[in-house]
Amino acid sequence: MNPASLLPTPCSLLLSLRALRVLRVRPFDSAEKSFRDPASANTLRAVTVLECIQKSADFLQKKGVDSPRLQAELLLAHVLKLQRMKLYLNFERVLADAETDQLRELIKRRGAREPLQHIVGTTSFCGLEIAVNRHVLVPRPETELLAEKGWQFLKTRTEGIPAALDLGTGSGCIAIALASKCPTSKIIAIDISPDALETAKTNAERNQVSERIEFLQSDGFAALKEPQRSFDLIISNPPYIASEEINTLDPEVRDFDPRSALDGGPDGLDFYRMLASQSGAFLNPGGHLMVEFGDGQADAIKTIFESQKWVVEGIYEDYTQRQRILVAQIPS
Ligand SMILES: C[S@@+](CC[C@H](N)C(=O)[O-])C[C@H]1O[C@@H](n2cnc3c(N)ncnc32)[C@H](O)[C@@H]1O
Repeated sequence: MNPASLLPTPCSLLLSLRALRVLRVRPFDSAEKSFRDPASANTLRAVTVLECIQKSADFLQKKGVDSPRLQAELLLAHVLKLQRMKLYLNFERVLADAETDQLRELIKRRGAREPLQHIVGTTSFCGLEIAVNRHVLVPRPETELLAEKGWQFLKTRTEGIPAALDLGTGSGCIAIALASKCPTSKIIAIDISPDALETAKTNAERNQVSERIEFLQSDGFAALKEPQRSFDLIISNPPYIASEEINTLDPEVRDFDPRSALDGGPDGLDFYRMLASQSGAFLNPGGHLMVEFGDGQADAIKTIFESQKWVVEGIYEDYTQRQRILVAQIPS
């Protein structure tokens, strides 16, 4: 027997939440709430915040979702327009029918492994709100470290206007973080995907930095050749998954992040080869190249850059002590 067939379906979740459905109760008024006990059709019983969290977390766990309780809490907080921690002060709060219905839909989507960030529509990146959708990679926490290294370096470039290029901007998260944390800077943000660029532009407007970011559709540096442009910083979180590995990724990534944001070619390193051979021509003297890379790629990437005469200044770890960021310079 397929063990998966034993798991509750979204339908059974729906029925079990419906069995707990509150009838004519006023939210926040637990004293007056009525209950329908699933064991007895005659007794009325409310759906409280705590019960919703527990039921939803059980469901998500059976669907193989990581941190199911946290995910359930975040989705419920989204429905109730509360900060997650506020749920803890409202465990006995009774949900209105519309809230239960909305939560049920969102939990169903999360159970189908749609990323939480797609469901709620935004994520936080370096303290900024970034809209995400199927056209852009969901920004990852480790990329915040790359962005932070970027704006710290830009702030040291005090002669003239610090200029940066974000290659493969996706949601625009890195470019927007650079522009907002280094308010004197000007950024060019490139992506091959016009849909990603639309999202990135919206995000720049949302974060009030659109006047300092120019968005360009380009395959790598192609659109920059005429006229020649140069930068103090070239920063990139490129696609770095080996093509054949993509099918082994979690469904949230495999089925919802755009393929062009993941696929780094047969060994995952195509983009780094292109950066190593082409980006030096676009760097100002003393300029830095900063790239993110995947697990186990540090040595190969270092070799790629050093074989093209780059000096690797450092390789830095992420929050989980995995090597994640390479910083390099071209000697003048
Ligand atoms: C891993 S995502 C990074 C998105 C964003 N910078 C971030 O860190 O979340 C890589 C991005 O590179 C873009 N891309 C892929 N190939 C490209 C190419 N040849 N030229 C420009 N952009 C490319 C993809 O469309 C995608 O948005």
